[in-house]
Amino acid sequence: MASDITISVIGLGYVGLPLAIALSRCFSVHAFDIDPSRISELRRRFDRTGEMEPEALASPGLHLTGEADDISRASVHIITVPTAVDEDNVPDLSAVKDACTLVGRHLASGDIVVLESTVYPGATEEVCGPVLAEASGLKCGEEFFLGYSPERINPGDKEHTIERITKVVSGQTAAVADRLVEIYGRVTHGNVFRARNIRTAEAAKVIENAQRDINIAFINEIAEIFHKLGISTHDVLETAGTKWNFLPFKPGLVGGHCIGVDPYYLAHRAQEIGHDPRVILAGRRINDDMGAFVADCIADRLGEPSHILVLGLTFKENVSDLRNSKVIDLVHRLRARGHSVDVHDSMAAPEDAFERYGLRLLPELSGNGYGAVVGAVPHDAYLELDAIAIAGFLGGGGLVADIKGLWRDLSFPAEIRYWLL
Ligand SMILES: NC(=O)c1ccc[n+]([C@@H]2O[C@H](COP(=O)([O-])OP(=O)(O)OC[C@H]3O[C@@H](n4cnc5c(N)ncnc54)[C@H](O)[C@@H]3O)[C@@H](O)[C@H]2O)c1
Repeated sequence: MASDITISVIGLGYVGLPLAIALSRCFSVHAFDIDPSRISELRRRFDRTGEMEPEALASPGLHLTGEADDISRASVHIITVPTAVDEDNVPDLSAVKDACTLVGRHLASGDIVVLESTVYPGATEEVCGPVLAEASGLKCGEEFFLGYSPERINPGDKEHTIERITKVVSGQTAAVADRLVEIYGRVTHGNVFRARNIRTAEAAKVIENAQRDINIAFINEIAEIFHKLGISTHDVLETAGTKWNFLPFKPGLVGGHCIGVDPYYLAHRAQEIGHDPRVILAGRRINDDMGAFVADCIADRLGEPSHILVLGLTFKENVSDLRNSKVIDLVHRLRARGHSVDVHDSMAAPEDAFERYGLRLLPELSGNGYGAVVGAVPHDAYLELDAIAIAGFLGGGGLVADIKGLWRDLSFPAEIRYWLL
C-alpha cells in the first residue's frame, strides 16, 4: 500500500490528536479542529490535555489546520468528535452530524469515512451515512464508503497507547475493511482485529464501557450495604480478591465522558428497539447517585456544619480532565447539608474548574483548621502526603474521609477519625 495516502482527522481532542500524530508517522495527515484556539495552541506545540509532548507535535507528516478545505486533500477521513448525552441522558450526536456535514462537503468519489467516536450500534450507517450522502451528493456504499474503528485509549495512561493496543476496525465492504486493516496496521505494528461488520465494532466498544460501569456499580452497591453493616468494603475486597477469578473493581465515583456516558448510548438503542435495559440503567443509577451517598456518609460523621477540604476534582487520577466530574456532586451535597467546602486539585486548570462548575480551586495545597479532609481523587500529589501532612490540614481532631483508599496504609493520630468508603 502506498505511504503517500493522505488522511484527514476531524476533531483533535484526547482521541484525535494522539491518533493524528501516530498516523502522521506513516502518512500525510491533515488534522482539523473546529476550535481555532486548539489549532493555534497545537501549532505552538502545546497540548492542553497533557497527553502529547511538544516534540510529538513536530511530526513532519502532521499538518494542523483550521481550514475545512484542507479536508479535500485527503481520501480517508477519520472523525473523532465528542459524543455526549443531553440533560435527560439521551445521546447527543450533533457534533458527529456536524463533522459529517463538513466532511461530506469535501468528499470525493472513492473516499472512505471512518468514525472513531463512541456511538450505539447502527449509528455510523444510519446517522453518518445519510448526512455524508446529503452533504456530498454521493451515494453511500457506492461512491464513498464507511468504516468504524473504536478508540480504546485511556487518558493519562502512557502504557496503553494507540501503538500498543489492539485496534478494532470494520468496513462497509470487505475491500474497505482490508484497506483500514492496512492503514491502522501500520500504526499498531499489525495489531488489528477485523470485526465482522460496522455494527459489531460499534457494539463491542459500547459494551466494553458498559461492562465496566456495571461492575463498578455492583461494588458501589455492596459498599452501601457494607457501610450500613459497619464492614470495610476495601477489607472485604482484599479478602475476596484472594480468589483466582474475583474481579478487581473498587468502589468510587464514576465520572468522565466515557464510562459514565456510553452505557446511555446502549440503553437508548435498546429502548428504540423496544427492550428495557434493566441492568444497564440500574448500574447507571447507582453510579450517578454515588457522589451524594459519599457526601452523606461524611456529613453524618461530622454532625455539625464544618469546613471541609476536598482533594481532587478531575474525573480520575493524574489527568486534568474535569468533564463530568462526580466530585462536584459530592461538593454540592456537602454544601446543601450546611458545610463550607474548599477544593484543591493538583492537575486541573483553575480557569476550567471555574468555567465548568463556578468553583474557585485553592491556589495551593495548604491551610489548617478544617473539620474534614476528603481524598476524592488519587492524584500522585495526594498519594505522597503522609499522615502528619494530612493531620496538619485538620484542627487538632477531625475526619479523614478516604474515598479511594489512597491513605489506607497510614497511621493517623488517635484524635483523628479515619473513614474509608
Ligand atoms: N477521551 C477518551 O479517553 C476516549 C476514549 C475512547 C473513546 N472516546 C470517544 O472518542 C470521541 C472523542 O472524545 P475526546 O475525548 O477526544 O473528545 P474531546 O472533547 O477531547 O475532543 C473533541 C475535539 O473535537 C472538536 N470538535 C467538536 N466538534 C467538531 C466538529 N464538528 N468538527 C471538528 N472538530 C470538532 C473539539 O473542538 C475538540 O477539540 C468520543 O466519542 C469519546 O466518547 C474517548
